[in-house]
Amino acid sequence: MASTALVTGGAIRLGRAIALDLAKAGYHIALHYHSSEQAARETREEIRALGVECELFPCDLADTAALDELAAAVKARMPGLDTLVNSASGYVQADIAATREEDFDQLFGVNLKAPFFLTQAFARHAGRGNVVNIVDNKIGFHQFKYAAYLLTKKGLADFTRMAALEFAPAIRVNGVAPGVTLPAGSRSEEYIAWRVQAIPVQRKGETEHITRAVLHLLENDFINGQVLVVDGGENIAGTGRNAGEFDPAKV
Ligand SMILES: NC(=O)c1ccc[n+]([C@@H]2O[C@H](COP(=O)([O-])OP(=O)(O)OC[C@H]3O[C@@H](n4cnc5c(N)ncnc54)[C@H](OP(=O)(O)O)[C@@H]3O)[C@@H](O)[C@H]2O)c1
Repeated sequence: MASTALVTGGAIRLGRAIALDLAKAGYHIALHYHSSEQAARETREEIRALGVECELFPCDLADTAALDELAAAVKARMPGLDTLVNSASGYVQADIAATREEDFDQLFGVNLKAPFFLTQAFARHAGRGNVVNIVDNKIGFHQFKYAAYLLTKKGLADFTRMAALEFAPAIRVNGVAPGVTLPAGSRSEEYIAWRVQAIPVQRKGETEHITRAVLHLLENDFINGQVLVVDGGENIAGTGRNAGEFDPAKV
């Protein structure tokens, strides 16, 4: 039986790219979406045109009670379910001082609590296979300008390692941490150029860089509990304040 992958947030942007490239690799796709219904239908048709099955599964991931039903529904309609990609995510730019409690709760609900309980439900209903969590390369920084968002992703990275231990050997759990890949439409060209200045390879990533990493983690069955950072080296570029060459003249 061919593998089926449940991809959360699969209707648009990076989740869509992951769903399409898994489909190109032969996976049937259980395409989860929340508000992007029209985009989900279009993505479903593109995936079916590749010769694999694709079914839609709408769900508000902030509704924890719905997560077990989601995994059960996928397993019932697509019995080959053996892969879960937790890509759906909320994003709010606010430092600690400006973070509203409602945004904090929403971000933790969608970005951490949902992958936690959906992984639990996946383990219960699929019983074997792989989970890949989409994290963020900013987990390597203490970037307080995205305080709550970043805490959810740091938690997701640690959850990845914990779940890898708990669910082995039946299920491997890994993560991919993208760097600048698909900036939100509101981001200016100047912003992207400014970010690229800090990336050692001097360019932003393409969706294919991320989807290839996801596929590699799925295919290499000796990798478990790892978060693969795909960001052109941005996360290793922080030199550390006062950690370089000591110049007494500048003290
Ligand atoms: N784009 C990048 O360059 C980049 C960089 C680093 C990390 N990442 C990570 O990669 C992943 C995808 O990024 P993206 O930029 O493509 O995300 P995005 O454009 O912000 O899209 C968010 C996705 O999450 C889903 N979602 C949001 N709230 C939801 C809820 N309450 N219930 C169910 N689904 C919900 C949305 O579904 P609907 O539209 O159907 O509502 C949508 O598919 C995220 O985990 C993100 O943190 C992306």
